[in-house]
Amino acid sequence: MGLLTHLSLLITDLDHTLVGNDEALDRLNQVLDRYRQTWGTKIVYATGRSKESYQDLVTTQRLLAPDALIAAVGTEIYLGAAETLDPEWVNKLSINWHREKVVTIASRFADLESQPQSEQRPFKVSYYLSPSVVAAVVPQLQELLSQQGLDVEIIYSGNKDLDILPRGGDKGTAVQFLRNRWQIDSIQTVVCGDSGNDISLFKYGIERGIIVGNAQSELRLWHELHPVNYHYLAVADYAAGILEGLKYFRFAE
Ligand code: GLC
Ligand code: MG
Repeated sequence: MGLLTHLSLLITDLDHTLVGNDEALDRLNQVLDRYRQTWGTKIVYATGRSKESYQDLVTTQRLLAPDALIAAVGTEIYLGAAETLDPEWVNKLSINWHREKVVTIASRFADLESQPQSEQRPFKVSYYLSPSVVAAVVPQLQELLSQQGLDVEIIYSGNKDLDILPRGGDKGTAVQFLRNRWQIDSIQTVVCGDSGNDISLFKYGIERGIIVGNAQSELRLWHELHPVNYHYLAVADYAAGILEGLKYFRFAE
């Protein structure tokens, strides 16, 4: 592993990024497991799913146990095997977040269809929205929420899911929080994603970023508009795309 760059932290989205090709996932897991043993590399999953929904996925996929789970689009951080939320993160997100007011305002939009109760979280309100009306609905929603002094992020993913979160509650901010907590350098950190709720992973720091080949249009477009040499758009899909990116950045052979 002489010429390789030392990988200290790998953060990856799950659905359609890490998960999607079982054979490639097994190959990547082997590499990561070896790095864990050699370098103490930390592995973090950053998912839109709730913790419960993540646990459903764990029963059907061969996933390594992560060092932390970032769930509900960034709004929930569980360290190690902890069942409870990181209290410092909860305190940060609680400032100026008024969930009921957000729900009341969003309910004025007939095009917003509520997601199941399991995906409605303390710091995340989630809907389905047709791509044909996104351009009309999102600016109006943003405007109404701002008028009420509500500082939120509206995130559209996969041409169907719309999440409303407290500002600074996204996956990318959660990654900065964990990096600080663990004192890990951004240039030894890799982030991987495929859709709109992953854009924040690429947006705040100079972590090495891998966009898998099967990425959704919203992330591809963002990448085209913000080209930097520390982001890599893979040709291969899912975990094979992550492996390709690790090689590109000299984190793997
Ligand atoms: C996951 C969540 C859903 C969210 C979507 C996009 O599918 O379950 O609530 O809207 O990710 O972030
Ligand atoms: Mg995804």
